[in-house]
Parts: sequence; C-alpha cells; structure tokens
Amino acid sequence: MKKILFVASEGLPYIKSGGLADVIGSLPQAIQKHGYQSDVVLPLYKKIKDKYQLEHLKQFNVQSGLINTSCDLYYQKHDGVDYYFIGNDKYFYRDEMYGYVDDGERFAFFCKAVCELLTNIDIKYNILLCNDWHTGMIPIMLKKEYRDKYRNGIKTIYTIHNLLFQGNFPDTMLDYFNLDRKYFKNGDIKFDNGISFMKAGIIYADKVTTVSQSYSQEILTEEYSERMDKVLLSRKNDLSGIVNGIDIDMWNPETDKNIIENYNIKRLSGKKKCKKQLQKQLGLRVSGDVLLVGMVSRLTWQKGVSIILEKLSEIMNQDIQLIILGTGDGYIESQFKQIEHTYPHRAVFYCGYNEALSHQVYAGVDVLLMPSLFEPCGISQLIAQRYGTLPLVREVGGLKDTVHPYNEYQHTGDGFSFKHFTGNDLLNVLKYAMYIYYYKKPEWKLLMKNAMSCDVSWDNSAKKYIELFEEISK
Ligand code: ADP
Ligand code: GLC
Repeated sequence: MKKILFVASEGLPYIKSGGLADVIGSLPQAIQKHGYQSDVVLPLYKKIKDKYQLEHLKQFNVQSGLINTSCDLYYQKHDGVDYYFIGNDKYFYRDEMYGYVDDGERFAFFCKAVCELLTNIDIKYNILLCNDWHTGMIPIMLKKEYRDKYRNGIKTIYTIHNLLFQGNFPDTMLDYFNLDRKYFKNGDIKFDNGISFMKAGIIYADKVTTVSQSYSQEILTEEYSERMDKVLLSRKNDLSGIVNGIDIDMWNPETDKNIIENYNIKRLSGKKKCKKQLQKQLGLRVSGDVLLVGMVSRLTWQKGVSIILEKLSEIMNQDIQLIILGTGDGYIESQFKQIEHTYPHRAVFYCGYNEALSHQVYAGVDVLLMPSLFEPCGISQLIAQRYGTLPLVREVGGLKDTVHPYNEYQHTGDGFSFKHFTGNDLLNVLKYAMYIYYYKKPEWKLLMKNAMSCDVSWDNSAKKYIELFEEISK
C-alpha cells in the first residue's frame, strides 16, 4: 500500500484560517478510500495544544547551523486519518498561526522537522504532498540535504493554493537550512536577492499542482503569476491543476446541526426557514421574499472587495439585503463596519471568524457573492452550491471551473458570473440575478436544484491525485 504524507500549515478539524484547512481536512480521507494511507503533519499551534488531548510520541533534535532545537512529536487519529504534530513552544505556542517577524525561521524549522520526522517514525512514506510556501523547502532538502536510505526515493508533490504568499526571506535564512550556497548562486531558490520557499518548492518538487485547471494556466501569465511565471514555465510539463472538492458530510443541508431546519433538493421549504431565522438573528427585516445576498470570506483585496466597495451605494439602492461575514484587512473591515448604520435592517457586517454562523449564512442566503480578483479554487462557492445558494462570481481561476452561469435559452446553470473585474459588470450581473429572482421564480428554483446537484465531492479529484501518485512512482 502506498503511503502519502500531507504536509501543511493548517488543517481541519484542528485549525483553520481558510480553504487550505478545508482541503487538508477532507482530501486525505477521500484518498484513503482508494486504499492509500494518507497521513497529515501540522505545526502544533497553541490553539491545538490547549484544546486537544494528543499523544506525545517522542522527542528528537532538529539541527540548524550549529544549533540543535528539540522537537516534540505528537499524534492523534481522527476520522480514520493519522495526524502528526510538530511541537516546539518557542515557535508555535503563540496566539496566531501566521504574521510574526520570525515566520521564516518558524516554518524553516517546520520543514526541517518534517524531514527529521521521516526517520523518527516507523512508516516509510512514498510521497510527501507539500502545500503552499510553508512547506516549500522540503523538496530541496530531501533531494540535497537528507539523502539516506530512509529518505532516498521519497517523491514530492508541491501544491500551490495561493501564489500571492511566497515565503520570501533574506538570504541569511540559508544558514538555517545548512544548504550549499550554490543553490542560491545558481538561481534555483534565489528570488529578489533573498530566498523564496515558494520558488524552491516549484523548482525541486517532482510534480507541481494547483487547485484548479484554470489557475494552473493563469499563473503562467504575468497577470496572475505574482512574478513567478518564468519559474512556473520552467516546470510547465510537470504542472497540473486538480480542482478542490469539499467534505460533503460536514457541509450537508440535510443533516447540518448548525441550521434551524434541514432541507434537501426535494424539500426546499427548510431553506426559507433558515433565511428568516438568519435575518431575525442578525437584525435584518424578516422577509422570505427579498433577495438576500451574502459573503463569507477572508477580507482581502483578492476577494474582489474593491469593486463591492466601489458600487456599495448602488448595490444597496437595489431591492436586496446584504450580509458580510468576514475578517482580515483593517481598512476593509472599517469600510464594512459602516453598512449597518447606513442601511439599517438591510445590511449587516459580522466582523470575525464564526464557523457556525458561516453554515447559517450558506443555508440562509439566496446568493453568495465572490467577485474575486483571482481565485486559485475557492471553497465557499462549492459550499454555496451544496446549500442551494447561487454563487455570483467573477470568471476567474477555480470559480470559472466550478460555476456554470445561468443560460436563459438552454435553461442551464448553477450560478451567475461576469468576466471583467469592474464594478459595473458586478452590478449588472447582480441586477440580472435580481430579475430572475423576482420575475422568473421557476427558473430560480431550477438553478437552485442544479446547484444542489453539482458534484462538489472529492470523488473525481481524488482519482486525479491517485493518477498523479501512480505516474510519479513509475
Ligand atoms: P480562501 O482559502 O482564499 O480564504 P476559500 O473559498 O478557498 O478561500 O475558503 C474559505 C473557507 O474559509 C471557507 O470554508 C469559508 O467558509 C471559510 N471562511 C472564510 N471566512 C470565514 C469567516 N469569517 N467565518 C467562518 N468561516 C469563514
Ligand atoms: C487558497 C485559495 C483558495 C483555495 C484554497 C484551498 O486559500 O485562496 O482559492 O480554495 O487555498 O485550496
């Protein structure tokens, strides 16, 4: 049986800041169904250490330069998957996951500790699936630094979830890895005179994947590559896109315990109850008839908030209600904080991260807004579809691959979309959605059913990962 180790900086059920955690919390299970052992290794953050009773397996040393740092390895089985945790209080026993001045050193330690882990447990992994910049140095270290009978032959896949975050640091970070300077001098890991974890991952992994087909093409262009297009073009033949799925048991309107009434494709009445409850609980005017638009998102420019803010007053001039659930950039938060006062009982901003409320929003709103500037895949639109909520998205990245816009002639589609990143295009498609909602009720119902019939599970994509595992192992 092949053994895969997923290496990531976050993963459900333990810790989450965005879609990466959704993926790490559900893809390993999907792959295990095909008879591949899929384990996960995460940093042991404070929030995990304080909440979970984990088994302490052992302690080992991680050497960086001349310094030895100890690493505590913890373990827990969850939902049939073996989770390992890299513990070091100095680096990870902190309130947040990211955003510290020493993030480079913290995740350099994580990368090295994962390489050490491979000789400290009795499992011989065939493939390491490394995710995002936090794990980007693992492929080069396995190929160049840790070459022994335990680790030789382990293949690596590097998955890009977001090219914007690259893990670029001064070249002094090289000493931390004990890596020969030649890899810096020859340009392999050099980026802007420093080193780039992201670039290292792209150059040294056996295969590179992204989380949708469209994003895998877009990042080869200057517009979307965040200056990595040349690096990515050099690996073009080993680059592919596999679209994300979601955990369809966790996100299931039929069984979801967070919502007031369960519903399914044949019995949609529960969704209306969810809508009214959501309006009531958030102080909106309670009405089953008004178009309720929602957004569940990290508040960053990636998510298209600039065009929402640009058109906010015109959007709110329409006959709609608006719910924003999100947290992130301080400026964006401050802009949204005013909407409740400007549009009382018609718009509400919940500033924060709230898992239960997110379920209630997905179930209660009619439209999920996701006008992203770029979107590697997007998980929120998939959840929306599962709950019969129509995504209104920009045709970019994974949004383009997963949302099929309404076609009034063929009576097909499961959402709405627009192409150009402009406030006008967003507003126009929103007005179009309103027209269908208010004047073409049967069509709206059809779209809801289409959305709920979309296969947003991991089934197809898990098979594609397995094909990749097979190819890489030849
Ligand atoms: P990204 O990973 O870029 O943030 P995705 O759409 O892939 O975007 O994934 C976002 C995930 O985070 C979804 O599961 C979404 O429900 C969740 N999420 C985002 N913001 C919040 C929030 N404020 N409260 C609860 N869940 C949130
Ligand atoms: C990133 C991307 C998002 C994607 C998620 C999981 O956070 O921004 O589009 O869905 O990773 O792959």
